[in-house]
Amino acid sequence: MSTLVIGGAGYIGAHVVRLLLHRGEDVVVVDDLSTGAAHRVGEATLVELDVAGPDAQESLELVMRERGVTSVIHFAAKKQVGESVARPTWYYRQNIGGLANVLAAMEGTGVSNMIFSSSAAVYGMPPVEVVTEGTDCRPINPYGETKLVGEWMLADCERAWGLRWAGLRYFNVAGAGWPELGDPAVLNLVPMVLDRLARGERPKIFGDDYPTPDGTCIRDYIHVLDLAHAHLAAMDHLSSDAELTEHVFNVGTGTGASVREVIDAIGEASGLDVTADVEPRRAGDPPQLIAAPDLIRDVLSWKAEHGLADIIRSAWEAWQAGPRRIG
Ligand SMILES: NC(=O)c1ccc[n+]([C@@H]2O[C@H](COP(=O)([O-])OP(=O)(O)OC[C@H]3O[C@@H](n4cnc5c(N)ncnc54)[C@H](O)[C@@H]3O)[C@@H](O)[C@H]2O)c1
Repeated sequence: MSTLVIGGAGYIGAHVVRLLLHRGEDVVVVDDLSTGAAHRVGEATLVELDVAGPDAQESLELVMRERGVTSVIHFAAKKQVGESVARPTWYYRQNIGGLANVLAAMEGTGVSNMIFSSSAAVYGMPPVEVVTEGTDCRPINPYGETKLVGEWMLADCERAWGLRWAGLRYFNVAGAGWPELGDPAVLNLVPMVLDRLARGERPKIFGDDYPTPDGTCIRDYIHVLDLAHAHLAAMDHLSSDAELTEHVFNVGTGTGASVREVIDAIGEASGLDVTADVEPRRAGDPPQLIAAPDLIRDVLSWKAEHGLADIIRSAWEAWQAGPRRIG
């Protein structure tokens, strides 16, 4: 019996792989290393494979049969919002085409459990400040659309052939569970600020005239290690004989932090001058996006253990352990 982690060489996937290995589980990782790195998977077997490629279904079926896979955790996706706007068909091919190949291979081999990386991007610009899983999903870019369509595809497979699934809608993921597993991409606020500081530049704030207490956008930051534990809780739930009444879960803390608060926390953790430049607002940024985390607490008995200070401290330590150490 083993767990197949697709995209397990990436930022979040590598944390889940490590936790599974620590629990003594047999783990096989499939990853094309397009944004991941082989060293992140540790002792797990790595099979290099593009799940959106032409022979992916057959190759995946082979891995599933040979390794006795019983559960799949599917992280593999492209995740850059701007790129998704510029290259929508490629995003659909990667994120939806890849997922279709994985599901077809699962159906073909009788693997029935799947955890899917969804995103708060499915909500778009919600009309409420705290979103529940019942809040209307109106994604505003192809990236968010591929996540919502992914959830629909899973629900269809449940109806058609009994897939047992959970879609985890991640809020703002940051931090590192281990210094060598920091976020290698410069796409989210924390690495963006650290990247600018490493270049000797000032951090940027996009808009300080939002209707929030300090005028900057508020988000729900979730420690990547807490998020990784949420996957284990979801996996245990799917593997039990529990009736699955809920399928999509917000993964957040229920508490928001503003852009300014995050930048200040980086200043505190690093001791650096983090005086920021204020730029105009970016299109498509809601003023506030906070998860109601009640459903995942009630159904999966999971809640976040780490707050903003832990998140930022761990992100700073990971940055300093990497190739672009500051100071
Ligand atoms: N990081 C975040 O803040 C965040 C927030 C919400 C949702 N997500 C979702 O979580 C998942 C993981 O995100 P991450 O931050 O770890 O990203 P990441 O880019 O670090 O990890 C993605 C992994 O998937 C692999 N991959 C991508 N396309 C592939 C393909 N076609 N075939 C095989 N492997 C492929 C990459 O090489 C990488 O190892 C993604 O689905 C992303 O959309 C991330």
